[in-house]
Amino acid sequence: MNVRDSEHMIAELNAHEGYELTDDATLADLILINTCSVREKPVHKLFSELGVFNKLKKADAKIGVCGCTASHLGKEIIKRAPYVNFVLGARNVSKIADVLHRDKAVEIEIDYDESQFAFKDFRSSPYKAYINISIGCDKQCTFCIVPKTRGDEISIPADLIVAETRKAVENGAKEVFLLGQNVNNYGRRLSGGNEKINFTELLRRVSAVEGLERIRFTSPHPLHMDDEFIEEFARNPKICKSMHMPLQSGSSEILKAMKRGYTKEWFLNRARKLREMAPDVSISTDIIVAFPGESDEDFEDTMDVLNQVRFEQLFSFKYSPRPLTEAEKLEEVDSEIGSNRLARLQARHDEILDEMKSVNLGKVVEVYFEELRDGGYVAGRSDNNLGIKVKGSEELLGTIAKVKIIEVSRNVQYGEIIA
Ligand code: 5AD
Ligand code: SF4
Repeated sequence: MNVRDSEHMIAELNAHEGYELTDDATLADLILINTCSVREKPVHKLFSELGVFNKLKKADAKIGVCGCTASHLGKEIIKRAPYVNFVLGARNVSKIADVLHRDKAVEIEIDYDESQFAFKDFRSSPYKAYINISIGCDKQCTFCIVPKTRGDEISIPADLIVAETRKAVENGAKEVFLLGQNVNNYGRRLSGGNEKINFTELLRRVSAVEGLERIRFTSPHPLHMDDEFIEEFARNPKICKSMHMPLQSGSSEILKAMKRGYTKEWFLNRARKLREMAPDVSISTDIIVAFPGESDEDFEDTMDVLNQVRFEQLFSFKYSPRPLTEAEKLEEVDSEIGSNRLARLQARHDEILDEMKSVNLGKVVEVYFEELRDGGYVAGRSDNNLGIKVKGSEELLGTIAKVKIIEVSRNVQYGEIIA
C-alpha cells in the first residue's frame, strides 16, 4: 500500500511540479520518506535516516515525511528534526503538490476522504498495476496502529476500480494487484453512497476486463473468508492461486485478546477448505509471537497451526507495543522468551519449506516475467506465487510462458521455458 501511495505522489509531483525521479540523494531537489508505523523499529529508523539525508542533500533541497508515521507523529517530527519541510499523513497523499509550497506544513487529517481523487498516473512496473480498492481499516485489532494512522475504512466505487483496471491493461499490464487493509470486507462503506457490492462480486467484475490475465490481492481477513469467496477464488481462472491468511496467533484465547473475531478452529477450517477447493494454492501468513499474556500453551497452538497448514510463506514478528492501541498498556511477555519463540517458529517453518520444496521439482507452471536479473536471468512469478528465474533477456519481459522447474531452493526456483 505504501508503494502505491509513493506512485501516487510521484505522479502528482511529476504532473503538477515537473519533478522526475532520481536514486541519487545528492542530486535531489526533494527527498520524500514514505514511512510505516506498524512496528517500532521502522519508526526509529526514520530519524536516523532523516539525519543521513539531511547531511547528503543539496543546501536548498526539501525533505518531506509521508505515510503512517507522519500521520501518527505529526508535528513532533518537525520538532525532532527541524530541517524537515513538511509532514504528510497516509490519508492525505493527494495534497502532496500543495504541501510542497507550505514550509513546515503538517497535513495529517485522519477523516480526509481522498478515495475518489483522480490521481495522475505513474506505475513503477509496466507489467503489474497496483490498484487501491479501499482505504483505512474498520477493525480494532488490539495490537495494531493502522486504524489510527489510516482512519476509517472507505471502499472505492467498483466502476472506478474496473475503469482503472481497464486503463492498466490498455497500458500493457497483464496483472492487477488489488490493495486494501481488509480487502474481503469490501463494500461495507462505499464513498459517495455508491452501489454496494461485496469483494467476491468485485473480483467477478474486475476479472471480466478483457486482456487482463491475472488478479492478485492483499490483505484478506480470515474472518471474512466465507464459502462464496473461497469458491470464487478457486473457480475463477484469472485469480492467482496465492492467498494471504494472516493468522496472527493460533490460540483462540489470544485471538480473542487480539479482537481478531475468529478462533483457531475457524482458521483451520478455512485453510482446509481452501486447499481442498484449490489444490495448487500457496498460503502465506503473518504471525505475531509473544502478544501480552501468551503462555507456552498458547504458543504451542500457533506451532500446531503452522504444522497443520504448512504455509508456503511466513512473515513473523515479535510483538511490539504500539501507541494508540488497546494492547499498549498490557504487561509484556519476557523479551527473551519472545525471541526464543520467534526463533522456534521460524526454524520449524524453514524445515517445512525444505520438506515441501522438492514437490515443485519437475512441475510445469505458467510464469509472468517481470524483471531482469544478474547473470542473464529473467525473473517472474508462477500463478501460485513461486519466484522463478530462467535464462533469458528483455524479450521475455511482460510475457507469460510455460516453465518446467529444474532446480529448487527455499526462496527461488530455476526453470526452463517449454512453451
Ligand atoms: N507488533 C508486531 N507485529 C505487528 N503487526 C501489526 N502490528 C504489530 C505489532 N504491534 C504485524 C501483523 C500484521 C503485519 C502487517 O504486521 O502480523 O499482519
Ligand atoms: Fe490492523 Fe487488524 Fe486492520 Fe489488519 S485488520 S490493518 S491488523 S486493525
